[in-house]
Amino acid sequence: MDLKDKVVVITGGAGGLGYAMAENLAAAGAKLALIDVDQEKLEKACANLGATTEVQGYALDITDEEDVFSGFQFIKEDFGQVNVLINNAGILRDGLMLKAKEGQVIDRMSYDQFQSVINVNLTGTFLCGREAAAAMIETGQEGVIINISSLAKAGNMGQSNYSASKAGVAAMSVGWAKELARHNIRSAAVAPGVIETEMTAAMKPEALERLEKMVPVGRLGQAEEIASTIRFIIENDYVNGRVFEIDGGIRL
Ligand SMILES: NC(=O)c1ccc[n+]([C@@H]2O[C@H](COP(=O)([O-])OP(=O)(O)OC[C@H]3O[C@@H](n4cnc5c(N)ncnc54)[C@H](O)[C@@H]3O)[C@@H](O)[C@H]2O)c1
Repeated sequence: MDLKDKVVVITGGAGGLGYAMAENLAAAGAKLALIDVDQEKLEKACANLGATTEVQGYALDITDEEDVFSGFQFIKEDFGQVNVLINNAGILRDGLMLKAKEGQVIDRMSYDQFQSVINVNLTGTFLCGREAAAAMIETGQEGVIINISSLAKAGNMGQSNYSASKAGVAAMSVGWAKELARHNIRSAAVAPGVIETEMTAAMKPEALERLEKMVPVGRLGQAEEIASTIRFIIENDYVNGRVFEIDGGIRL
């Protein structure tokens, strides 16, 4: 797909990796519809990106079915079409499933801690994927849907909720690739390793060094390296139903 004048929706587009994707795709000529729950951050992002392309922000929570439905109706009204969805919004609420000491269970991951991550990362991705595909079909557009998974999809200690959600979004992309190809919609996923973000910048230098040593290439990834993968997937029409692991070779 040639990105020039295509309409790209990015969830969680106000910051972090989502913003880096927005910058990259705007430079390729795409128009942007950014969805984020953080209205203030969203306004700033739109103001910055507005210098490069047409951009609109939609402040909504992707776990809310009605919000997502009406959000995509607004995007259709504002832009007249939807071509790409990047399901990037995600949260972490790490913790062990159980903590035990001397044969006694002293703590459990709560239902809410588990479910809140599933709600955003998995259910939110499903809801946005469904409405984006509907908008693509109804406006007769070719489409691409990309879900952001994670290295943690392999299963990570302390991440029952996150790992399950990220394995789920990878699997959904493969299913959607098969289901939606007949409507001229492709789907894929990107599973980043550890990427340099505000969170990693705030880590202690010793902890950061330990983390970097775990990566065969000897460094953390850059947001731009994820953004350029997204662009490759969109631009290459033969990519479908695959999960791209962009992680410097690290394995859990
Ligand atoms: N940063 C990494 O190293 C890394 C590694 C692997 C995977 N990922 C995945 O990449 C994606 C982006 O990560 P990031 O590091 O940029 O995170 P981030 O926290 O910087 O950005 C996530 C964005 O999503 C938004 N968001 C959260 N919940 C939302 C909701 N319910 N509705 C709408 N928007 C919501 C937040 O406001 C935020 O702007 C996530 O899915 C994350 O799991 C990140």
